Amino acid sequence: MSADTLPIRPFTQPVRVAFSVPGSKSITNRALILAAMCNQTLTLRGALFSRDTQILCEALKALGFSVDANAAQSTIALTGLGGKIPRASAEINVGNAGTAARFLTAFLTLHPAGTYTLDGDPAMRKRPMKGLMDALKTTGATFTFHGEPDCFPFTLHTKGWTHCTALEVDARASSQILSALLMVAGAQPHSVAVKLVGKTVSEPFVEMTLQMLTQFGATFTQPESGLTTFAGTSQLQLPSETYRIEPDATAASYFLSLPMVAGGKVILPEGEQITLQGDIDFLKPLAKTGLTVAKANGHILIEQTKESFEPVEYDFEAISDTFLTLAALSPLLSGPTRITGIGHTRHQETDRIRAMANELQKLGQMVVEEPDAIEIHPDLAELYARADASKHCGRLLCVDTYEDHRMAMSFAILGSYDLLQDGQPWLQIRDPKCCGKTFPSFFQHLEQLHSLPEMNIEFLLIAVDGGAASGKSSTSRGVAERLNLMHVDTGSHYRAITFECLKNGIAADAPEKVAAFLKTLSLDTQLVGRTASIVTGGHLPEPEALRSAEVNQHVSAFAALPCVRDAVKGYQRSQVAVAQENKYVGLIMEGRDIGSVIFPEASLKIYLQADEATRSKRREAEGQSDTIAQRDRIDSTRKTAPLQVAPNAVIIDNSTLSLQQVIDKIATLAIPLCKQA
Ligand code: CDP
Ligand code: CDP
Repeated sequence: MSADTLPIRPFTQPVRVAFSVPGSKSITNRALILAAMCNQTLTLRGALFSRDTQILCEALKALGFSVDANAAQSTIALTGLGGKIPRASAEINVGNAGTAARFLTAFLTLHPAGTYTLDGDPAMRKRPMKGLMDALKTTGATFTFHGEPDCFPFTLHTKGWTHCTALEVDARASSQILSALLMVAGAQPHSVAVKLVGKTVSEPFVEMTLQMLTQFGATFTQPESGLTTFAGTSQLQLPSETYRIEPDATAASYFLSLPMVAGGKVILPEGEQITLQGDIDFLKPLAKTGLTVAKANGHILIEQTKESFEPVEYDFEAISDTFLTLAALSPLLSGPTRITGIGHTRHQETDRIRAMANELQKLGQMVVEEPDAIEIHPDLAELYARADASKHCGRLLCVDTYEDHRMAMSFAILGSYDLLQDGQPWLQIRDPKCCGKTFPSFFQHLEQLHSLPEMNIEFLLIAVDGGAASGKSSTSRGVAERLNLMHVDTGSHYRAITFECLKNGIAADAPEKVAAFLKTLSLDTQLVGRTASIVTGGHLPEPEALRSAEVNQHVSAFAALPCVRDAVKGYQRSQVAVAQENKYVGLIMEGRDIGSVIFPEASLKIYLQADEATRSKRREAEGQSDTIAQRDRIDSTRKTAPLQVAPNAVIIDNSTLSLQQVIDKIATLAIPLCKQA
C-alpha cells in the first residue's frame, strides 16, 4: 500500500458522542478581511487553522499587517488599519484557496497606488475570476495577465475606491466574487451600490457576508433584487474586542452523518447557534433519509432510529459543499439519490460532479451524470462484492480525491461503515492530506471517535481541560453531583508530587532526581465524597498544603517534566476502574491534557476558558496568591502534553456565565450520551 493512502477503520459499535469541529473557513476568512479594514485589534476566537486560512494570514502579513495566530488556543489577533494597506507592493500566492483569491484581489484595490503580483496553484489558475476583475476595473484598477487572460497569475495596479460609487458584477460562476466586492464596498465611507448582473449561486454565502458586514457596523438597503446599496460608514467596527467564529457547518456534515454508518447518536453542541452558515441546512436532506434530527437546549441531536434509509431527491444549490457528503453515502440508501442544482461545483477544487461519478462507479454504483445534477442508483451488493474480492487479493478499494478535501472526507464516512462486518478496513482514501485545506485534523477527529467500546457503551467519560482558574474543578464537581459521576482533579496529582518533591528538597531543575524519587513514591486513591483523591506515599495530602503559594509557584515546572507525566498517566487512566468498582455511571476528569492525552476517546470533551482578568479576580476572591499567566504560559508551551483545545472538544467561554449555567450546559450535553438515555 503506498504511503499516500489511508485505510479507514469501520465503526463496529454505535457512536455516542458530542463533538465539536474547528471554526468555519468561510467565516474565518471573511472575519480576517473585515478585521483588517477595522481600526482596532480584534481577536478571532474559535478560528480555523488550515491551509486556506493560513494563506490569507500570510498574505495579510506580507502586506504589513500584524497577525498573531495561536493554533493551540484557536485564536488569531489582527490589527486593522481602518482600510489602509501598509505595503504598496507585494507578491502573494493564494494556493488553491478560492476565498483568499477573491477576497484578497478585491481587498488590494483599496490601496490608492498599489502594485501587487498574485499567483495560485495550477488548479487555481483555472478557477473563475473574470467577473470580479471586470467589476474591479470600475475602481480604476488594471490587470496585466501573465498566463491565460482573466486568470492567475496577474499583476494588479490599484487606484483606491474614492471615486467608485457604483459597480456591476457578474457572479454567476461563484458567489465568492460577489462576497469579495460586498465586503470592500461595505467598508467605504461613501455610499456604494453593487449591482448583480444575472443571478449568483450559493446565496447563503452572500447572506453570510451581509450579516457579517452588519455585525461590523455597515448598513445597506436592497431596493430591488440583485442591488445592494451601502449607506457608507465612517469606520467598520465591532462593539467588542473579540469575534467568535462559528464551528464549520460543512465540516460538521461528515460527523452528523455518522449514525447512518455506525448507528447510535451524535450531538452537535450549541448547533442551533450556527446562524451564519447555510450549510447547517444539510440536516434537511439528512432527515429525509430517516435519521432522527432533534433539538434540545440549543444542541442538535442526530440519531439512527430506523434500520434502512430512504432515497432522497434534493436541490443542493444553496448547500452545494455538502452534496458530496450525501452522494458518498448513497450506496447505503434504499433507493436512488438525486442531487440537483450543483452545476457550479464543476468549477470548484475539481469538477466535483465528475469526480463523484467516477469514484462511485469504481465502487460499483450506477451513476447518471447531468450538467448540473447527479443521480446514483445504489447497489450495496455490488459494493460488498468488490470490497470482498479486493480483500481476497489482499487489497482495499481505493478512492481518488482529486486534491479535493471534500471528496476525502465524504468517502471517509462511507469507509466508516462496517461493510464486510469484520471491523476491518475495506476502503482507503488517496492523498488524505488534501483535508489540510479546511480541516487538517479531520482523520484524527474521526479516529478519536472510535471510543473504547466497553467504555463508550457502559460508561460515561467526560474530559474537562482549561487554563488556571477557568472553573474546571468547581464545574466538574457540579456535573459529577448532577449525573452521579466520580470526579478526578488531576491538578491535585501534580500538586501532590510537587509538594512531596519540595518536602524532600528536590527541585524541578534536577529531573533525574525527580525521576528517581518518583520510583519510590506510591500513588493510591481515596474517595472523599465523590472525588477520588490521590494518596502519595501512603498519605492523603492536606488540601491547604497543595494550594500553598510555594506549590502554586513550582507546580507547572514539575508538571512539564516528562518523568512526572509518565508517572501519573497510568495512574490517571486507572481511575476508570476505581469509578466502576465504586458503581459510578461515569467519570469526569479535569486538567490540561485529559481530552488530548489521557482520554482522547472520551464521549464528551470540554475546554473551559475565561478571560485573564476574570480568572485573576476569581483567585483573588478565594484569597489565593497565584501566578495564573505564568502557569498558563508554561502549561501551553511545554513539549509534553501542552494545554491545548483537544480535537472534538466543545469550547465553553464562561467569563460571563455563572457556575450553575456552565454545569447546566455540560449536563444537557452529557445526559443524552448516558447509556440509559
Ligand atoms: O486549579 P488550577 O487550574 O489553578 O490548577 P490545577 O488544575 O490545580 O493544576 C496545577 C498545575 O498542574 C497546572 O498549572 C499545570 O501545570 C499542572 N497540570 C498539568 O500539567 N496537567 C493536568 N492535567 C493538570 C494540571
Ligand atoms: O479548577 P480551576 O482552577 O479551573 O477553577 P476553579 O477552582 O473551579 O474556579 C476558580 C474560582 O472561580 C472558583 O471560586 C469558582 O467558584 C469561580 N468560578 C466562577 O465564579 N464562575 C464560573 N463559571 C466558574 C468558576
